[in-house]
Amino acid sequence: MSARPSSAALRGGNADTRPHPSKPFPIGLLGHGTVGSAFDTLLGERSPYVQRLTGRAPVLAGTLTRSQGSFEEILAGSELVVELLGGIEPAREYVLRAMRAGRHVVTANKQLLSQHGEELFAAAAENGVQLRFEAAVAGVVPVVRVLAESLAGAHLERIHGIVNGTTNFILSEMERGSSYQEALAETQRQGYAEADPSDDVSGRDAAAKMAILARLAFGTPVHLDEVPYEGIEHLQADDLQYARELGLGLKLIGTAERRDGGLSVRVHPAFLYAGHPLASVRGPFNAVTVESDAITEITMSGPGAGGRQTASAVLGDVVSVMRPPCVPPPPLEPLALVRDVSSSFYLHMEVADRPGVLGEVANVLGDCGASIKSVVQRGLGENARLVMVIHPISQSRLDDALQRIAELDFLRSAPRAIRVIEEEFNV
Ligand SMILES: NC(=O)c1ccc[n+]([C@@H]2O[C@H](COP(=O)([O-])OP(=O)(O)OC[C@H]3O[C@@H](n4cnc5c(N)ncnc54)[C@H](OP(=O)(O)O)[C@@H]3O)[C@@H](O)[C@H]2O)c1
Repeated sequence: MSARPSSAALRGGNADTRPHPSKPFPIGLLGHGTVGSAFDTLLGERSPYVQRLTGRAPVLAGTLTRSQGSFEEILAGSELVVELLGGIEPAREYVLRAMRAGRHVVTANKQLLSQHGEELFAAAAENGVQLRFEAAVAGVVPVVRVLAESLAGAHLERIHGIVNGTTNFILSEMERGSSYQEALAETQRQGYAEADPSDDVSGRDAAAKMAILARLAFGTPVHLDEVPYEGIEHLQADDLQYARELGLGLKLIGTAERRDGGLSVRVHPAFLYAGHPLASVRGPFNAVTVESDAITEITMSGPGAGGRQTASAVLGDVVSVMRPPCVPPPPLEPLALVRDVSSSFYLHMEVADRPGVLGEVANVLGDCGASIKSVVQRGLGENARLVMVIHPISQSRLDDALQRIAELDFLRSAPRAIRVIEEEFNV
């Protein structure tokens, strides 16, 4: 098959139209399914930016699926191979052959790494190439990079992870009162679970990811077969509801920790108290908590799957291969700094307790372009406390409104304003 730019680059997308004098960086793409096709699109969109970062524009040198492409031709025409086939064979053979031919490899394949990791890591070292796999664990959450680079010198004690979004989504549904079967059906309907979800609900998928994290964090080879795992199929909705009354939430937790002078790696459902950093992770999100004496605790969370999200992690690995990591990008076109930012606000006022006060405050806010989202009024003898949240308004308009409110004769003290961040990411 002939070398070709990615489909988005062919369409033009937001491509940089300036001539690119430097040699392109050819990438062989194995697999063009959910993640592979998203990577193709993303590469087309981001190639001009990556060129500005690295000096070379990444382009697809060829794509392999069951019905198109030749691995030999792709290998010959590429400097880096992205493996997004999944499964063990032929992914293992292609990855090994690519590294033995001196190609860097980026993969999202947790099955492969959790069962043949040592063979692959050895091949990368012997051939002086990089094997990167950020997308294999927790999707776009950069836990692999953090363990392998940022915390490489730390003496870690424990990792706890919600590393399977499908089961986390099911458990979130069960917390709302669904039975296991209803929750599973809803998860499939929303596209978060495969038609055959056995690896997810049995805990095997999470076990593969914990084997990879344990290898990175504790420097000990761990094969998937050495990780005991228990799934969520036997859980009852009423367990979740009783536990909620006790302040407990149920999650499928992967653990890798030092125990009795050794290492324990396992996956099972576990109750968490509400204050635990993983307790608030709901829906298809993933999160990983890393603990050690020196760092106390770090938690990373975000989308654990999805084509575009996973492709973003794959592209991050490609850029890391193309240039040394942690170098600030060269100055690009500077963005204008925005100062007058809109936000929701919490407002607190002490006012005389008399009729019409709330209406007058609302009128002033309305004149300045703000509207009230929610309000609480409490009596304090002759005075009252008026506390409200207003919908987003720019800082300059809020300042006008506060000045005008402060001049109202019923105000007993200066109004206080604190910003409210309204975004909610957990579902
Ligand atoms: N999907 C996610 O959200 C996600 C998240 C994190 C990690 N991952 C990992 O990313 C990898 C890819 O997942 P995916 O969801 O994109 O899989 P997918 O949708 O099933 O796509 C697999 C692709 O590989 C091709 N392929 C499979 N076996 C092949 C063979 N023997 N020869 C040639 N081509 C072959 C398929 O070709 P055809 O098109 O011809 O069938 C298809 O294009 C897996 O390792 C997965 O664990 C996925």
